[in-house]
Amino acid sequence: MEKKRGSFSGGLGFVLAAAGSAVGLGNLWRFPYLAAQYGGGIFILVYIILALTFGFALLTTEIAIGRKTGSSHILAYGKLDKRFGFLGYLAAIVPVIILPYYSVIGGWIIKYVTIFVTGTQAEVANNSYFGSFIGDTFSPLFFFMIFLGLTMLIVIGGVEKSIEKISKILMPILLVLMVGVSIYVLTLPGSMEGVKFYLLPDFSKFSLITVCAAMGQLFYSLSIAMGIMITYGSYTHKDMNLSRSVVHIEIFDTIVALFAGFMVIPAVYMFNGEAGTTASGPGLMFQSLPSVFNQMAGGRIIGLAFFILVALAALTSSVSVMEAIVSSIMDKLKISRGKACAIVVIVSLALGIPSSLGNGVWSNITILGMDFLTFFDYLSNYVIMPIVALLTCILIGWFVGTKVIKDEVTRNGEKFRRQAVLDVMIKYIAPVLLLIILIFYSLVQFGLISM
Ligand code: PFF
Repeated sequence: MEKKRGSFSGGLGFVLAAAGSAVGLGNLWRFPYLAAQYGGGIFILVYIILALTFGFALLTTEIAIGRKTGSSHILAYGKLDKRFGFLGYLAAIVPVIILPYYSVIGGWIIKYVTIFVTGTQAEVANNSYFGSFIGDTFSPLFFFMIFLGLTMLIVIGGVEKSIEKISKILMPILLVLMVGVSIYVLTLPGSMEGVKFYLLPDFSKFSLITVCAAMGQLFYSLSIAMGIMITYGSYTHKDMNLSRSVVHIEIFDTIVALFAGFMVIPAVYMFNGEAGTTASGPGLMFQSLPSVFNQMAGGRIIGLAFFILVALAALTSSVSVMEAIVSSIMDKLKISRGKACAIVVIVSLALGIPSSLGNGVWSNITILGMDFLTFFDYLSNYVIMPIVALLTCILIGWFVGTKVIKDEVTRNGEKFRRQAVLDVMIKYIAPVLLLIILIFYSLVQFGLISM
């Protein structure tokens, strides 16, 4: 049974696949504008402190749950405590909601890669291009299906033979492209002003909201509460050094986020000033940056490298989220990987098509005032995920006890240096922080406070 579930060949394969999941649009697109908006260096500092405490505790816990139970999220919680079986089903909803809309966005990125390949980027620099592209009916659907199809092709090949192999190839390419683009941007005349803007702390922009934004970002960035880390953890060997792997995943994820800031902020700051850097949402990636690439010497090559690296990051993330669903279907229904993939693709088409059309012909249909894509994003990230993570903390901290995690981490006699941090975090602090995320983003959503 254990063998049939598939496994990573070793620690490196696991770390690269998990880092592939963690490094995604969250790092490349959300982190830079949040840093620009919430005080540069001070946001970065808060983020790093939270990564070493809050992020570390939740990530370690999820991977340990996966390895201990040998199951994906759908069964894992119930194996730890029968009364928490429901939590597996709640957690199982998250990747099902995320995959379709993430693939729609992945499709937009593939489209932008093709634009830079064909050299038609001048057209994209026009501010109205993006809105009219995503508002179109067929073109975004076509690219969505390509992205979803690529994801499926990787997932169908299995854990070790495909997901691990592809991660081992794509993640180094991503790093090389990132370093190359950053060096190029940083050597442009005038870029240092942008670097200062990015790194120097601006305390006037610091408030409790900075902490909430950093917390929400971290949680999303590490792919926590998506079922992914439990699933990937269940594919690791018992002799892998778990806490060392967690450190490597965190370092990878944080470095990519910091580098993303070096690529994006100085470039946009140089050409569009401070206002350009805080254009939140898709505007920064799909409007400001293409216009910057269009004005920059060598912009076509840099733009192409940039969008390829974003596409790779998005692809390895969508692979992990699809794998989480496929794995839970296989665990629960005991059907083959191929059949499970077919089910996931059908459901993703059913939810992805409205997510795409909601920007165009179906834009008049809204849920709580949001189009489909925005609604799915909101529901998963700001409602279900914090609830899942909160209940995970309660289960581990107050029902089964953090000793379960400690035993799993130290099962081969490894030292567990930050065990006290994990204990305090999971029992007391993380639940409070998660409640704050839940309340804070609800207030933002319903217009009671503004971010
Ligand atoms: N950690 C990912 C990121 O930072 O973009 C979050 C993620 C989103 C993972 C969607 C997987 C996924 F399908």
